[in-house]
Amino acid sequence: MNLRFDDSCITVAIVGCGGFIGSHLLDAVLERTRWRVFGVDLDFYRLQHRLNDERCEFLCADLAEPVVVERIAQFPLVVNLAAICTPSRYMGEACEVIRSNYDHPAALATACAKSGSWLVHFSTSEIYGRTAPDSGELEEDSTPAVFGPVTASRWSYATAKLLAERFIAGLPDLKWTVVRPFNFVGPYMDFMPGVDGEGIPRVLANFSTALLRGEPLKLVNGGKAKRCFTSVHDAVDFLFALFAAGGAVAMDAGSGTAPGVLSQAFNVGNVENEVSIAELAGKMRSIFAKVRGVDVSTLPEPQIVSGEEYYGAGYDDSMRRMPSVAKAQRLLGFKARIPLEVALEESLSWFVKHYDTGASS
Ligand SMILES: NC(=O)c1ccc[n+]([C@@H]2O[C@H](COP(=O)([O-])OP(=O)(O)OC[C@H]3O[C@@H](n4cnc5c(N)ncnc54)[C@H](O)[C@@H]3O)[C@@H](O)[C@H]2O)c1
Repeated sequence: MNLRFDDSCITVAIVGCGGFIGSHLLDAVLERTRWRVFGVDLDFYRLQHRLNDERCEFLCADLAEPVVVERIAQFPLVVNLAAICTPSRYMGEACEVIRSNYDHPAALATACAKSGSWLVHFSTSEIYGRTAPDSGELEEDSTPAVFGPVTASRWSYATAKLLAERFIAGLPDLKWTVVRPFNFVGPYMDFMPGVDGEGIPRVLANFSTALLRGEPLKLVNGGKAKRCFTSVHDAVDFLFALFAAGGAVAMDAGSGTAPGVLSQAFNVGNVENEVSIAELAGKMRSIFAKVRGVDVSTLPEPQIVSGEEYYGAGYDDSMRRMPSVAKAQRLLGFKARIPLEVALEESLSWFVKHYDTGASS
């Protein structure tokens, strides 16, 4: 069976379908293809508008359950997004983070190897480890990785993701592709603490929450670390380029070879969107002031806090994450296009509209 977007017989399993990337991928699959979706997640609160869609079946279940894994692996294409992936949890819940980012994906990969499904597994740009401020482009197949000491439990997530990649790559007969996201941003990202989640969300939702509540943005260790923020819409376009390029090969039962996009890890990031976290804070303050029609000088100044003070013992960081995007360009013709300001304005406007209860006025 080949993978064609106009084929109504194909069902894609999206695991972690109710999350940030999953909800965008679900919308895009329903809008751009005739496929059906088997969505799995622990909850689906972001997907109220899709729950009665006749092309979708949703299973509210835990990937830790073997019976759930077996069910998912029945589908020809499996996109695994399920993970604990909030940095604030990497320190205090290291064992749970490792189970989520290694044990569960390993079990799913084993089942996909048996059933012949094409597994598109979401890893992370954190697998490049503790990069220095002057580190160059991170290349999928040649850049070495250095991690912090075992006492720096920040690395629980990255090392579990890396081991999952190695397990996947080592499984005989598995048709796999690994995706390494570089700081995707967009609507539906994370939560507002105390409203629909607890703890510290990732930086976009963290800064958006502070702006909405009229609180200072907290710059961990001065906000010197740099990241390439990438619109989630570019990420979804990448996946469609991947599906288009890999479908025929991956779905063709019996094609024992692994050409093109199979047995590959891909960076997905926007190299033109690199900023330090302090610069990000400045941009978000300006956009928020514009969205709310206020002068930026009326917003509280950012505050510097130490990593340990903010996240707890075991905090550590990568100082720069600049992807090489040559492989995605060469094999898929894909290049991220959405500028940082556009992505931030869309994300922040959504956040304000979604969560504003007058808390900042
Ligand atoms: N968003 C990014 O910038 C980014 C960066 C690096 C890596 N990633 C990776 O991409 C994937 C998706 O990220 P996201 O930003 O959409 O995260 P998210 O937290 O918004 O979504 C993950 C979803 O997985 C679900 N989930 C977690 N454990 C589960 C389990 N045991 N069973 C069933 N569902 C479970 C969660 O409920 C959540 O809805 C993750 O693997 C993450 O590590 C994302």
